[in-house]
Amino acid sequence: MPVKSLITLPDPRLRQVAAPIDQFNATLAELMQDMTDTMIAGPGGVGLAAPQIGESVRAVVVDCSRSQRPCRNHGLLYLINPEITALSEGEALGREGCMSVPEWVGMVPRARRITVNYQSMDGQRLSLSTAGFEARVIQHEVDHLNGKLFIDRVVSVHDLVRRMDT
Ligand code: NI
Repeated sequence: MPVKSLITLPDPRLRQVAAPIDQFNATLAELMQDMTDTMIAGPGGVGLAAPQIGESVRAVVVDCSRSQRPCRNHGLLYLINPEITALSEGEALGREGCMSVPEWVGMVPRARRITVNYQSMDGQRLSLSTAGFEARVIQHEVDHLNGKLFIDRVVSVHDLVRRMDT
């Protein structure tokens, strides 16, 4: 179960739109396990998208139970071909970092509540509604599949600061 090396800015692969997954097989299971191992190895990792380890496909792992901040969450989630279908009207500002943008953290507006449609590892179509920090993490990870990073979403450059702990 190897921990993969992380792609970081300014690698152009972070800016690609990832391809949908249509093969629900052992290769996918291996990818999801590698992503999970890489997320756990990373500092403060609560989510990872496949493009961050160089695989330009629409797969995300999220585990907000790993957060130091207590929050309601659904534990370890494997989201294949995720699509956010309902965004709440209200947005909240929250602090985000990213293992692919190691030197910066920023205050990013995100929908407070979302519904995400996705497929499980065996291709089953599922839907999940969530709010708060977990909704934020899912929005951040789905952005990666569209070549978007949190630094693109800060309202002003003043919302971006150098990470002090690295
Ligand atoms: Ni990220």
